[in-house]
Amino acid sequence: MSTVPWIPSPKTPIEYLKYALGASSNDVVLDLGCGDGRVLLEFAKAGAKTICIEINRVLCNVSELVFGLHGLKDRLIVICSDFFSVDLSELRPRPTIVYAYLYPSTLELLSEKLEKELDLCTIIATLDFPIRNWSPVFVKSLVDENGHHRTIWIYINGFSNPKARLITEEKISLVEQTNYCPDTCKRKLFL
Ligand SMILES: C[S@@+](CC[C@H](N)C(=O)[O-])C[C@H]1O[C@@H](n2cnc3c(N)ncnc32)[C@H](O)[C@@H]1O
Repeated sequence: MSTVPWIPSPKTPIEYLKYALGASSNDVVLDLGCGDGRVLLEFAKAGAKTICIEINRVLCNVSELVFGLHGLKDRLIVICSDFFSVDLSELRPRPTIVYAYLYPSTLELLSEKLEKELDLCTIIATLDFPIRNWSPVFVKSLVDENGHHRTIWIYINGFSNPKARLITEEKISLVEQTNYCPDTCKRKLFL
């Protein structure tokens, strides 16, 4: 059952995020509780592929419809489900940016799952509410198009989490052993 109601994100913070993260066709953006898909649509317009996980069937259908109307249906995957029941480590293509406009209590419940199931260096951006015990790499305050003060919290998986050191050490040894360094770690930010 949905615990967070549908309250759409305003456009201003999304425009900022798109620019600050340098979103491009190299990105795969996941919105946890995508509502009517408006956040993903903005990223899709920048060329990104998008994944929506949404519990409300009507909103899932609206997202598909809106992307269809914009001729961008091939850039959207909709998983009409409870995000707690979706194994994010199985998502393909792999998310490079995760967006969540959810209550603090929901973010806290999700935090361990995000840490475990997302790739190293995945950007996690939240609107208005931070993830408890995580350290943002950047916090942006702005006034949206309706005159309301909003805050965007930007985190990097593997660096912002409480167990970041452990994950980083594991990953460093992975890089040393296999010469593997995810492309997402090479992102240039425009904060
Ligand atoms: C505050 S709205 C944000 C909508 C959209 N992300 C945006 O920013 O415009 C939260 C959304 O999360 C969805 N949601 C709440 N709990 C969920 C859950 N457990 N699994 C999937 N979606 C959920 C709601 O139906 C709602 O559409």
